[in-house]
Amino acid sequence: MLFDTHAHLNAEQFGEDLEEVLNRAKEAGVSNIVVVGFDRPTIEKTMELINQYDNIYGCIGWHPVDAIDMTDNDLRWIEELSQHQKIVALGEMGLDYYWDKSPKDIQQEVFRKQIQLAKKVKLPIVIHNREATEDVVKILKEENASDVGGIMHCFSGSIEIAKECMDMNFYISFGGPVTFKNARKPKEVAKEIPLDKILIETDCPYLTPHPYRGKRNEPAYVKLVAQQIAELKEMTLEEIAEITHNNAKKLFNIM
Ligand code: NI
Repeated sequence: MLFDTHAHLNAEQFGEDLEEVLNRAKEAGVSNIVVVGFDRPTIEKTMELINQYDNIYGCIGWHPVDAIDMTDNDLRWIEELSQHQKIVALGEMGLDYYWDKSPKDIQQEVFRKQIQLAKKVKLPIVIHNREATEDVVKILKEENASDVGGIMHCFSGSIEIAKECMDMNFYISFGGPVTFKNARKPKEVAKEIPLDKILIETDCPYLTPHPYRGKRNEPAYVKLVAQQIAELKEMTLEEIAEITHNNAKKLFNIM
């Protein structure tokens, strides 16, 4: 059984045909999905989905691109919602230096506050990093994020950075980009990551795996990511599915 650890089924791209998307996921062998909400509307939608569907869990937090919009009230709201037993992680949080909507210092402050909240409510964290690796690692260290651990979501860094993150109790999660034809580096990194530290995800509707690149992504396609990892590890799809499924259940504390 496959576990999609990062899906935005709360996005408007799934407004019309969510039932069909979930049926295709089931047919592909996807038994569990974590839906990620990262601002007011997507957090609200996440709470609806986890109440509506048994196999959907939630991860809520504030995206670094929108850090400038987060108020103390929002943080308190996230804290309250995190008491729901199907909220299994906080995020996605982190730093994104590609977009310049939120200044770096505000992103860093919002990131630190969310790590502190995760430690308070004892939930793992899901990290978004774009062009900010050095500062992300520095803040994870300074805030002792290893106390809660979590996931480096859609990891695209080097094996050295992966090792630093694994030492801090983080799993390394791979998505569609590892299947791209020209993705030599992500493939090399995936090959090196120990089996007990690997997770798989879609990040749908974004980052659609090969051969559907350019189309809308959906949880069923996490199978393509698992297939690619299996190939790199010279193992079967079933073995990789089981290992990553167990890793996810352990991290999210799902029985
Ligand atoms: Ni995401």
